Amino acid sequence: MTATLTDAPNRRGPIPRRLDAILAARGIGPAAVGTQEPPSEPVTALELADARIPARYRKALGNHPQVTAWAEAIAAAGAPGPGSAPGIAEGPSLLIAGPTGTGKTHQAYGAIRTLLAAGVRLRWEAVTAADLYARLRPRSGHDAERDLQSLARCPLLLLDDLGAARTSEWTEELTYRLINHRYEHLRPTLITTNLPTDALRTTLGDRIASRLAEMTERVILTGPDRRRRTQA
Ligand SMILES: Nc1ncnc2c1ncn2[C@@H]1O[C@H](COP(=O)(O)OP(=O)(O)OP(=O)(O)O)[C@@H](O)[C@H]1O
Ligand SMILES: [Mg+2]
Repeated sequence: MTATLTDAPNRRGPIPRRLDAILAARGIGPAAVGTQEPPSEPVTALELADARIPARYRKALGNHPQVTAWAEAIAAAGAPGPGSAPGIAEGPSLLIAGPTGTGKTHQAYGAIRTLLAAGVRLRWEAVTAADLYARLRPRSGHDAERDLQSLARCPLLLLDDLGAARTSEWTEELTYRLINHRYEHLRPTLITTNLPTDALRTTLGDRIASRLAEMTERVILTGPDRRRRTQA
């Protein structure tokens, strides 16, 4: 009886055996899978995050001293996350300002990568202000309110290019609600903008500018447009 059990996998009729051979030859059958499967290695949070980060910023390092200090403070202040890994809850925000091409978005993604590399388990979202307005524009079959709430409550949000999109009462109200929620709940937020402080107030309105002044530490990037410098 023991021999019968041991032989069982080989006791397939001629047709299934032929089918296995055809599938293996085409690289799809169980035999092929068995030989081609890569060694299983644990996928790190950083690797998973890298897949969501736009290709241009996938290797970004948040190496500006204020950005590094912010990431360290957030990591240190974090409440325990899943599996007792450090998570994040409440904390300060960063407003990364400067002219076009000085590396604001690079620093922001770099900060997210620094947190993930430090083992912080966090749910994060990144969106440009222009995409946010396009995404939340009322349209049938889409629950914009739910989308807004999900971004407002996300433990870490990167709001890129604030103030760059055309504004209206509607965009101002939406930005206010998003920023105000994050302001009230001390949710860490990375914001980038091309606008200097006074222009931020006139473009976004004083209610938003006032909250940003209190909730964010300001990082000012200067220098040439790195995109043009690369081409030169
Ligand atoms: N510290 C850095 N090291 C290497 N490359 C960098 C660094 N900072 C920025 N870059 C590169 O320079 C280019 C411009 O950077 P980035 O897109 O972050 O600029 P930005 O300030 O966000 O510009 P904009 O205001 O137009 O959005 C990108 O190709 C980016 O990868
Ligand atoms: Mg940018």
